[in-house]
Amino acid sequence: MLKMTSLAKVYRTEMVETYALRDFNLTVKAGEFVAVTGPSGSGKTTFLTIAGLLEAFSGGSYWLDGVDVSQMDDDRRSRIRNEKIGFIFQAFNLIPDLNVLDNIEVPLRYRGMAAAERKKRAAEALARVGLSARAKHYPAELSGGQQQRVAIARALAGSPKLLLADEPTGNLDSQMARSVMDLLEELHREGATIVMVTHDPQLAARAQRNVHVIDGQVVDMAAELPGFKLEAA
Ligand SMILES: Nc1ncnc2c1ncn2[C@@H]1O[C@H](COP(=O)(O)OP(=O)(O)OP(=O)(O)O)[C@@H](O)[C@H]1O
Ligand SMILES: [Mg+2]
Repeated sequence: MLKMTSLAKVYRTEMVETYALRDFNLTVKAGEFVAVTGPSGSGKTTFLTIAGLLEAFSGGSYWLDGVDVSQMDDDRRSRIRNEKIGFIFQAFNLIPDLNVLDNIEVPLRYRGMAAAERKKRAAEALARVGLSARAKHYPAELSGGQQQRVAIARALAGSPKLLLADEPTGNLDSQMARSVMDLLEELHREGATIVMVTHDPQLAARAQRNVHVIDGQVVDMAAELPGFKLEAA
């Protein structure tokens, strides 16, 4: 599904060069559920924004679904983003002038989906996050956790092949966090590939595989902790 080899991302200002990612290597197979952990500033969000074709990279290679991302033009990139990828990011990016239901419909609208189908999907997704009663509310009238659930509903409505989630449970209490994890697992069972950044070890443990990022690189847990190797052997 996703293969990054020696990927680099450099942020340059007049004064400094920051390598957010450096020699970053990761393969995620179709249908996998991967949790990404790592300290603040280690490059997790940078990785997700590149994975989701939201930002360019500075070096190395990235293949998505068998296609070399560096060879895609802007149109192709945005089409793939709309059709295949769902995002649940730290900033929910809800549109303040649209009510909850209309917010959820936005990505479907970009795909040219008919109005009736959009309405149906948006209402279903909202029900899955338990917010049907808030359909006509505006984002400012919701709590942080509710806004987060709307962002999750928006991602679910598109039935994405690849779901990229950055701390999807960051603003939720532990019960709500678990039910969001239940939803992600349901989506995973339906066939989606999921990459989720989380600081919560309990949630990370529910993914099929954990990837640890330090200083812009994926570190091999087995090499760091010999006990892991013995268990795996
Ligand atoms: N637009 C930018 N310009 C310059 N430097 C940036 C930019 N975005 C990120 N960085 C730097 O890249 C590094 C990685 O940032 P990133 O946001 O990927 O970290 P993170 O692992 O998601 O951290 P957190 O857990 O705090 O969200 C950091 O050192 C950060 O300061
Ligand atoms: Mg981050």
